[in-house]
Amino acid sequence: MPQHALGRELGLKVNPIPKGVGEKTNFGVTIEGLDLNQISDTDEQVKALSECIWTHKVVVVKGQQSLEPIKQWELVTRFDPDSPQVHSHGDMKTFSKKGGLLSEKASREVVGIPGAENVRLIGKGFQGEDHYGIKNLTIYHGLSNDFHSKKLPDDEFKAGNSRFQRWHMDAPLYARDPAWFTTLRCFKRPTEPMMNIRWDDDTGLSMKSEPGLTAFFSNVQTYELMSAEEKSIAENSWVEYAPNPYVWISKCGGKTNGLGLESEGKELALEDLGDYELKNVKTYPMVWVNPVTGERAFQVHGICARKLYLRSSPTEEPRIIDNVEEIRAFLKPIQERVLRPEYILLPAVEEGDIVMWANYMMFHTAIDYPIEFGARTMHQANIGASIGPAQMGLFEIPSLA
Ligand SMILES: [Fe+2]
Repeated sequence: MPQHALGRELGLKVNPIPKGVGEKTNFGVTIEGLDLNQISDTDEQVKALSECIWTHKVVVVKGQQSLEPIKQWELVTRFDPDSPQVHSHGDMKTFSKKGGLLSEKASREVVGIPGAENVRLIGKGFQGEDHYGIKNLTIYHGLSNDFHSKKLPDDEFKAGNSRFQRWHMDAPLYARDPAWFTTLRCFKRPTEPMMNIRWDDDTGLSMKSEPGLTAFFSNVQTYELMSAEEKSIAENSWVEYAPNPYVWISKCGGKTNGLGLESEGKELALEDLGDYELKNVKTYPMVWVNPVTGERAFQVHGICARKLYLRSSPTEEPRIIDNVEEIRAFLKPIQERVLRPEYILLPAVEEGDIVMWANYMMFHTAIDYPIEFGARTMHQANIGASIGPAQMGLFEIPSLA
């Protein structure tokens, strides 16, 4: 849908997020004039907003200071009314036990908002005397650079240098399918001083950012940057994710540029993953098709991938790669091609904004900052999808059992 059509339909201002010279991102808009307290009364508006997110991939809805937390959850459920009414990572109990422990190094405190427990408070530092009934909470273990295998020295961090924490989509990759969209409401974040985000790898790349932002790149652009040969493999191949995938990688550390894991042989053995059921193990195609625009995204959550099934045509026997070093060697050149400043968007969300993104098309990451710069308070909500990635590929994944 062209953006002006959406604007006409909703009577809203839909504007592309301004790009600097040389920037190559082809996603991201702001919407003004929308009151999300009211939107869920109207199916047409929810549908139009949903199509806007699929089309523009990252949508910043401005001016939602007075939104009730429960209304954020209602909106999320209205985006996917056929879905079970639970956060994509499950209820708080399941989240803490299985999905929440991303890694011992990167675990973070997550608190449900009283009365709207599927809306999660995430942030850093002091959250206020009374935040919707949450009293005097200080989040000590928020987003963190600790996830990297090679640490950023503390003095360099304190001087305003940081890194992408962990590029990912929001996806349990076990039992539930990932949410189509994630919504993240900004209550508070520091806006200065400017940070210097470093790749700290052999590219020597860096880019500037205000503190407390979320970075995005588009896996539609990842796909567009692939060679014809790479595309023909990706379009016919699929990925098997580990059972309890975040437990599997709980001892692992990430690369300094935030994309992928260092191969250090620290993945847990299957027998150490706790109880799991084979029927809940996820296999997803490598390429996911945008249901509104038809665009293709190379959407492989590399850190949790345990097996690749590679083939170049629908009739070929797949070649199975079950060695994580080989898996990472296959993914790295494809996924790192887009990991350049000109393809990365850092929408400057302000207090009262809600950023919503097409989780099936994008990778995003937090970026840590020194607590001395100020507290950060955000509300995150999404919902496990009613139609998952297995139905959004270009072929049906064959059963090899
Ligand atoms: Fe996320």
